[in-house]
Amino acid sequence: MILKDKTVLVTGASRGIGAALAKGMAEAGADIVITDLEHEANAMAAVAGQVEAAGRRAMCIPIDVTNKARVEEVVAEATAEMGQIDVLVNNAGVLKLSRLDALDEATWDQHFDVNAKGIMLCTNAILPQMKERGTGRIVNIASLAGRQGIEQQGHYAATKATAITLTRVYAQELGNQGIYVNALCPGIIMTEMGQNNLQKQEDRDYWAGATALRRLGEPEDIVGPAVFFASDLSGFVTGQALNVCGGLYFH
Ligand SMILES: NC(=O)c1ccc[n+]([C@@H]2O[C@H](COP(=O)([O-])OP(=O)(O)OC[C@H]3O[C@@H](n4cnc5c(N)ncnc54)[C@H](O)[C@@H]3O)[C@@H](O)[C@H]2O)c1
Repeated sequence: MILKDKTVLVTGASRGIGAALAKGMAEAGADIVITDLEHEANAMAAVAGQVEAAGRRAMCIPIDVTNKARVEEVVAEATAEMGQIDVLVNNAGVLKLSRLDALDEATWDQHFDVNAKGIMLCTNAILPQMKERGTGRIVNIASLAGRQGIEQQGHYAATKATAITLTRVYAQELGNQGIYVNALCPGIIMTEMGQNNLQKQEDRDYWAGATALRRLGEPEDIVGPAVFFASDLSGFVTGQALNVCGGLYFH
């Protein structure tokens, strides 16, 4: 119960890693604000059921992390309802595969809007209350792709490198106000997004075999590291990006 009575807001929480984080952080004692795009309302409600089954409060609220006014509204509504937001998990993300030399401008813009600008908008909306209390935790879900560009994911990798850079700079700017900012860099996690380019069993076998642990990741594999960054367990850790990849990459 390391997150007992903390309130965590998770973006992109209707499925995949975000849903696992909502459930897992509730099991660690937190109340959860579940946010995602409006059309994911049913899926969000199902995640809320899992949070409540863990004995914690859940609130579902639609958001588009690229919309500044909406982000500010959501933070205000969630804060009014839950009292305060102690932890923000910037998890919402998109990935569409394309070679860089065939990439259309709209896809580039969408990736930067959601994966990079979304982090800045959500973080800036939540910071005033964290500054006022002199404490707060931000966990950004980046990617191994942001450490090492990956073919067909150049635009996505660039947004994730940006997420790592934002993590480092926010941490430097906010550390003296008691606000911690860290990032997780998942490897291949078997979600809708993770399976995107792993349709064939032989590809899954190849990538599982390339990890030191000889397996692909599950959304639940991200929970422990996220709880670590969301809690006092990481009391002397800020501005860091931790690979959560089963030993696929070592830098
Ligand atoms: N699955 C992997 O292998 C993997 C690896 C590295 C990093 N990641 C990162 O982990 C995070 C979660 O990914 P996932 O694998 O669970 O993917 P996913 O596609 O299953 O989930 C992404 C979620 O983000 C939401 N979302 C998309 N655009 C949004 C917007 N504008 N506003 C609010 N929500 C929005 C989606 O509705 C969805 O619920 C992403 O940031 C992703 O880049 C995933």
